[in-house]
Amino acid sequence: MDDLDPTFIQAPEHRSDSNFIPNQPEEIPVIDLSRLGDPEDVQNVISEIGDACEKWGFFQVINHGVPCDARERVEETVKTFFDLPMEEKIKVKRDEVNPVGYHDGEHTKNVRDWKEVFDVYFKDPMVIPSSADPEDEGLRVVCNKWPQFPSGFREACEEYATHAEKLALKLLELISLSLGLPKKRFHDYFKEQMSFFRINHYPPCPRPDLALGVGHHKDADVISLLAQDEVGGLQVSRRSDGVWFPIRPVPNALVINIGNCMEIWTNDKYWSAEHRVVVNTTRERYSIPFFLLPSHDVEVKPFEELVSSQNPPRYKGYKWGKFYVSRNKSDFRKLEVQNIQIDDFKVVT
Ligand code: OGA
Ligand code: NI
Repeated sequence: MDDLDPTFIQAPEHRSDSNFIPNQPEEIPVIDLSRLGDPEDVQNVISEIGDACEKWGFFQVINHGVPCDARERVEETVKTFFDLPMEEKIKVKRDEVNPVGYHDGEHTKNVRDWKEVFDVYFKDPMVIPSSADPEDEGLRVVCNKWPQFPSGFREACEEYATHAEKLALKLLELISLSLGLPKKRFHDYFKEQMSFFRINHYPPCPRPDLALGVGHHKDADVISLLAQDEVGGLQVSRRSDGVWFPIRPVPNALVINIGNCMEIWTNDKYWSAEHRVVVNTTRERYSIPFFLLPSHDVEVKPFEELVSSQNPPRYKGYKWGKFYVSRNKSDFRKLEVQNIQIDDFKVVT
């Protein structure tokens, strides 16, 4: 244990061997979106997406329209950036004013993650609340941080984000239809969207039995679209029993998962699954999640169309931007208490 800083050590019940059964046959669905071109198959695709959102909260898509060379360009330029000396990287370090850019001290549930990251806002500049205080109506503007080297980094990121956002909104339409709602039901929530994307770099780790690349967590967003390389390590906890399953890397696929906002909007019909990243001793890994987030003033609460007297709302509403600002404070350091979670908004019955 000498070679691992204690801030990385997971509690025994959260380590990579807990509740994980190797060689399980059940797999997360891989859905071919080119089938949407066949009018006779569209309804099947929508139902398969709906089933996956309910059962796993995870699925993969292929033939999704995000060009693989756009993703490759981000990967190539960011590798050059991560290889730079630390004094270069910290010139674009994330801080409490603009919480984007480079960061290597992220904590998930108060344990440090074995990774370094670079975060980019989709909208630049972007509007967020000035504080987490519900009474404070002040807003402020935050901006991306771009490194001077390598050249082309910004262009590669902006191009990838444009494609990813387009696919995210298309998937939302399919999800909306799968719920029996109009195609554009979610549309207005994204006018001032706070979406961002992240490039995760997981270096080889001397003690993958004790540390994780990302500790168990749920994404706080609406949906996430994740590009992962061929190394593997992402795992999802099955809704029915909490057993961990690997998300197999599929070439050029994107992994889609449901976040907290969607879970609340659907009053728990769709599932925001816990997931985590297991690291290894020999191979570094890259992944690029795009987190689709609503505008700061959107109220996240169960849709009236999806609740009834038999299925009353399970959550009180919250303002998305306030939640985000409050959550962000805990990413920087170990807090004495657990950070804000959606269960804090559960209706007590
Ligand atoms: C995340 C995440 C998974 C991965 O960044 O929220 O879950 O495979 N990443 O990197
Ligand atoms: Ni995640």
